[in-house]
Amino acid sequence: MPRSDASIANLPRHVAIIMDGNGRWARKRHLPRAAGHVSGVSTVRAVVRAAIDIRLENLTLYAFSSENWKRPALEINHLMGLFRSYFREDIEELVRRNVRMRIIGSRRRAAPDILAMIEDGEARTAGNDGLNLTFAFDYGAQEEIAAAARELAEAAVRGELDPTAITTSLFATHLSTGELPEPDLVIRTGGERRLSNFLLWQSAYAELVFAETLWPDFSRNEFLDALNAFARRERRFGAVEPEAAA
Ligand code: IPE
Ligand code: IPE
Ligand code: MG
Repeated sequence: MPRSDASIANLPRHVAIIMDGNGRWARKRHLPRAAGHVSGVSTVRAVVRAAIDIRLENLTLYAFSSENWKRPALEINHLMGLFRSYFREDIEELVRRNVRMRIIGSRRRAAPDILAMIEDGEARTAGNDGLNLTFAFDYGAQEEIAAAARELAEAAVRGELDPTAITTSLFATHLSTGELPEPDLVIRTGGERRLSNFLLWQSAYAELVFAETLWPDFSRNEFLDALNAFARRERRFGAVEPEAAA
């Protein structure tokens, strides 16, 4: 049933999505895994448009993990081709719809032309102040945390940082998500119940929604359903409800 976008109460500030299930979607149809990734790009477009329409502040999409390099070269090449065509075809719409697009993850391994497209997209959308759309691309949370520790240790060795000044909030500014609020809601499609090295620090108190739906079948309506499920959750952050505190 179509529902009104205006009906979403208690919108999270930051939604992060582990877009999983493309391969299984293809296998069910006796198609190559690549076909699942192609179809998955349409879901990316649908979810980004929904996020813009409901005026979500921050959306982070897990597009390629640092461990995904372990996949067969053929699949990796196909995925990289899809990133190329996404950045080529969609940046214009993101610019027009006031989206600020950025990438988190390592920039050391991707092909130079993809990096150039990413940097061009980031520069062209940098002045926008609508949806903050972040793609986690060649991203791994453990490496991100180790890199933050390395930066702080180097500053301490140079004598520029007193180790006792290292707090959780200082540490967080050294993560790649620096100025983003922590995700309130992490959605994983595809039925697996794990984080697969995604935003491990940042998701400390995120609500988790696991959807059985494979990513290519995930829809705008299911995205809105997940937001409504979030709105019904009671978040305590380790405290107790005010009425229970007496
Ligand atoms: C997610 O779908 C896309 C990427 C990891 C790039 P998968 O390719 O992991 O699909 P499944 O999990 O094998 O079905
Ligand atoms: C997580 O999915 C990575 C992305 C969605 C980009 P994977 O399919 O790589 O995760 P595992 O291997 O099932 O944990
Ligand atoms: Mg998977």
